[in-house]
Amino acid sequence: MRLFLDTANFKEVRHGVELGVISGVTTNPTLVAKEGHPDFKAAVREICGLVDGPVSAEVLSLDRQGMMREAREVAGWAPNVVVKLPITADGLAATSVLSREGIKINLTLCFSANQALLAALAGATFVSPFVGRLDDAGHDGMAIVADIAQVFARCHYTTQVLAASIRHPLHCVVAAKAGADVATIPYKVLMQMIQHPLTDIGIARFLEDWRKVYEREEVKTL
Ligand code: G3P
Repeated sequence: MRLFLDTANFKEVRHGVELGVISGVTTNPTLVAKEGHPDFKAAVREICGLVDGPVSAEVLSLDRQGMMREAREVAGWAPNVVVKLPITADGLAATSVLSREGIKINLTLCFSANQALLAALAGATFVSPFVGRLDDAGHDGMAIVADIAQVFARCHYTTQVLAASIRHPLHCVVAAKAGADVATIPYKVLMQMIQHPLTDIGIARFLEDWRKVYEREEVKTL
């Protein structure tokens, strides 16, 4: 399973890429608005330049024609851009046309295995089940990721399962076990994944033990 960052913050993307563990980025209108980017196109192009892998940028139109118009424009902004559309009847219809034109689509706001199945049939490159929001609504978000992964494997669909709305590190492990191709995670979760108190305690003890023997005054003067 690969990891993408779910953010529109340049600094976070830079750091994630520098760590060598982030191979793509997903954004949504909420994340872009949170950063207050004055120019959406410029922001998407900047992020596309920071990471080699796919960068999802969401359109705002809700009708098929509007989605296709916006998607064709966004697709021209950078070679690694992926257009994000909601899974609706219009979103599916737009995806089936755009995917045949070679435009990569991430069908988002997926809350069921049936929606994911339709996304695959329409030719989406990614489908994004929203795990945290399913959990919030009293469902088992990860069970739906597992169902989708099973259906896709069984039916030999090439659409990639992109687990989204990830809220904590455990979600990442479970997504990987469930068969997700990608988990897109907030920067905070990436930092939480790195941390372990026993790692910090272990580092402190190694240094302390070393210093006790090799950094005593008399040893230093030898
Ligand atoms: O990018 C979409 C998704 O990851 C949103 O997450 O936490 O707002 O449900 P969240």
